[in-house]
Amino acid sequence: MSNWVEQMEGSRRAAAVIAPVLRSLFPGDSGQRLVVYAEGEAKSDIELSTSDYTSVEELYAELEKSAATEKNVTSILVKGVGRFVFANAGTNADNKRMSGKISLVTGGAQGFGEGIARELAAFGAQIVIADLNLELAEQVAASISEQYGENAAFALPVNVGDEDSVRDLMEGIVLRCGGIDLIVSNAGVLKAGGLEEMTLKAFEFVTRINYTAFFLVTKYGSRSMKLQAQFDKSYTSDIVQINSKSGLEGSNRNFAYAGSKFGGIGLVQSFAKELVENGIKVNAICPGNYYEGPLWSDPEKGLFVQYLEAGKVPGAQTVEDVYDFYVSKVPMHRGCSPLDVTRAIMYCVEQQNETGQAIPVTGGQTMLK
Ligand SMILES: NC(=O)c1ccc[n+]([C@@H]2O[C@H](COP(=O)([O-])OP(=O)(O)OC[C@H]3O[C@@H](n4cnc5c(N)ncnc54)[C@H](O)[C@@H]3O)[C@@H](O)[C@H]2O)c1
Repeated sequence: MSNWVEQMEGSRRAAAVIAPVLRSLFPGDSGQRLVVYAEGEAKSDIELSTSDYTSVEELYAELEKSAATEKNVTSILVKGVGRFVFANAGTNADNKRMSGKISLVTGGAQGFGEGIARELAAFGAQIVIADLNLELAEQVAASISEQYGENAAFALPVNVGDEDSVRDLMEGIVLRCGGIDLIVSNAGVLKAGGLEEMTLKAFEFVTRINYTAFFLVTKYGSRSMKLQAQFDKSYTSDIVQINSKSGLEGSNRNFAYAGSKFGGIGLVQSFAKELVENGIKVNAICPGNYYEGPLWSDPEKGLFVQYLEAGKVPGAQTVEDVYDFYVSKVPMHRGCSPLDVTRAIMYCVEQQNETGQAIPVTGGQTMLK
């Protein structure tokens, strides 16, 4: 193993900083190209060896030369690291708005995340569902692939609050696809309670998953995006945080959640300024309540049942009464759906002249000042 590969802690780590460069340098005709990494040394169209270069930058320079001269390349062997094979994205989605865009949705096994993953797939995106609940994530990915084409989606495990887990996730995606074009940082948790009820443990748990985890996801997720932009100046990518209307306005007896979401907007604005030079846009979407999702509608532990039992809505006799109470606060008289949120995500992706924004999708309930 060459010294520089050793310094990168082995061939998989080295492969994770080569695959995005190949995806940029050898884009293919369809623009929907995946770069799939495999260990081993099978015969390939272009063959290089890590021992001929003293650093990865020298290898990049050689690859740039090859890209300028070689046509119809389908595989590249980098001896000492492994083999990279070009493939087309799993979606049968020519000319759709998100065609070929490798899109990661954290917390995509249920709720908003699942819905956003399904809507993005319908617009042609290649989906990665990452969740603590791998079993459920795999079921959702299988159902998306059944609908939109073999390999249109796959699932990977992650705990977004754990640094090693986030790093492994991002490398895992890059080794399977060659890059990440869109990260939807959606996984989030809610623990409500006033000052007397809230424990430090619960407060720190909410802060870790809703706030700190967004730092980890952006730190490790932006690495392959930066590399792609370095070798293709026209390339842009997106990080979108699913925030909340509670990130724009305080929430009574729900400060752990609201504070973590306000903080998320501070991170979004700051990351947007730092990453603009790498062609990475960073924005937040601030949805209103998703009343049809499990958080609100779960028949046993959903918020409608909880609020009815706790007598939180004066005079409410049924779950429908609680629903009516909440919907009456929304000028458009309805909750927010995954499609509503996905439309805002697609605005962020397609808009090339905006970054660092927090976009409300609340039926008029929360208006920007
Ligand atoms: N549901 C709403 O009404 C609503 C409104 C505004 C904003 N939001 C935001 O939308 C996002 C999704 O909310 P939801 O209501 O769909 O939640 P949910 O509880 O229905 O689903 C959350 C998903 O995230 C996963 N998850 C939780 N912790 C994780 C971790 N540490 N690592 C990886 N995955 C993890 C869960 O397994 C689950 O699949 C959150 O950020 C939330 O704050 C929700």
